[in-house]
Amino acid sequence: MLVRDTDLTVVNVDKLTYAGNLESLAELDGDPRYHFEHGDICDAGRMADVFARYQPDAVVHLAAESHVDRSIDAPSEFIRTNVLGTFTLLQASRRHWRSMPDARRSAFRFVHVSTDEVFGSLGPTGSFSETTAYAPNSPYSATKAGSDHLVRAWHHTYGLPTIVTNCSNNYGPYQFPEKLIPLMIQHALAGKRMPVYGAGENVRDWLYVDDHAAALRRVLEQGRAGETYSVGGRSERRNVDVVRALCRLMDELAPSASIPRRESLIEFVADRPGHDQRYAIDASKIERELGWKPQETFESGLRKTVQWYLANQPWCERVQSGAYRGERLGKGIAI
Ligand SMILES: NC(=O)c1ccc[n+]([C@@H]2O[C@H](COP(=O)([O-])OP(=O)(O)OC[C@H]3O[C@@H](n4cnc5c(N)ncnc54)[C@H](O)[C@@H]3O)[C@@H](O)[C@H]2O)c1
Repeated sequence: MLVRDTDLTVVNVDKLTYAGNLESLAELDGDPRYHFEHGDICDAGRMADVFARYQPDAVVHLAAESHVDRSIDAPSEFIRTNVLGTFTLLQASRRHWRSMPDARRSAFRFVHVSTDEVFGSLGPTGSFSETTAYAPNSPYSATKAGSDHLVRAWHHTYGLPTIVTNCSNNYGPYQFPEKLIPLMIQHALAGKRMPVYGAGENVRDWLYVDDHAAALRRVLEQGRAGETYSVGGRSERRNVDVVRALCRLMDELAPSASIPRRESLIEFVADRPGHDQRYAIDASKIERELGWKPQETFESGLRKTVQWYLANQPWCERVQSGAYRGERLGKGIAI
């Protein structure tokens, strides 16, 4: 989005874990305003080298381990990347920021991209906002909460111009098929059973990925240093309703003679340990202060997403590494 819609130069630093894939950005190959650097944010020497060579005006920090089920099975990589990696990036940014000439120094931004999961779980009513107390419940959300605190401290202690965003569940093209929506599309297409945790009553506030990207751009360009912004789609849905909506779309867009109603594939499985019941975001601050609001409804975004996955099956097949075979992580039960 930045390369397409602005004249900025973008340096993409990525370790290319199982979740990273250069094919997703193949359309930028050869663009003089796009550079890819294969690197680990925990590697201080490598980060210093990248900062020295590119002299960035801003850092947008998205790199993370992000899948809750994986964090339950193997938390150490989450501690390493999310906590130590954020620390390493903050230190590299601070050194670089201190060395900048005054005019560029005051405009520098470190935008830390975080999640609503740091706030824990809601009951049937209410919503998270910038003033909600932190109460993370999973190893993933605990490490993201830790990284948010580091970012806050680097602003208050060292004056680094940081901003934190806490966004709700994303969905859309190019999402690794381990997250709910792309996983269910793949299962529906293959005629495999569609496992839903518990009774499918958990509620998430869904946001189309381009709307999240537009929010991050708004924060980068207009956000106030030291602030946090909650980002959400005002699209609360129960998991079972998300999967049912997806089944209906699949029946319409990819009809199957052998399975005329994909809903018959839905199967309720034992719940994820410590599964948060409900997330919802009050996005009034970013709407009011930065004039951002989502462009997609859940219905329009889901339709676009299903269409994209149907048209990009070769991408899905290639990104599904050997390490990920559709197993249910978190309790070690295959689905
Ligand atoms: N997906 C969501 O619903 C959602 C919602 C809110 C916030 N977020 C946050 O947005 C960010 C991106 O999420 P995502 O869903 O794209 O995650 P993802 O897991 O799909 O991708 C993470 C990316 O980070 C890279 N990476 C991992 N460890 C790294 C390391 N040590 N050094 C360099 N690169 C590394 C991976 O290769 C991959 O490209 C994360 O910080 C996540 O917490 C995501």
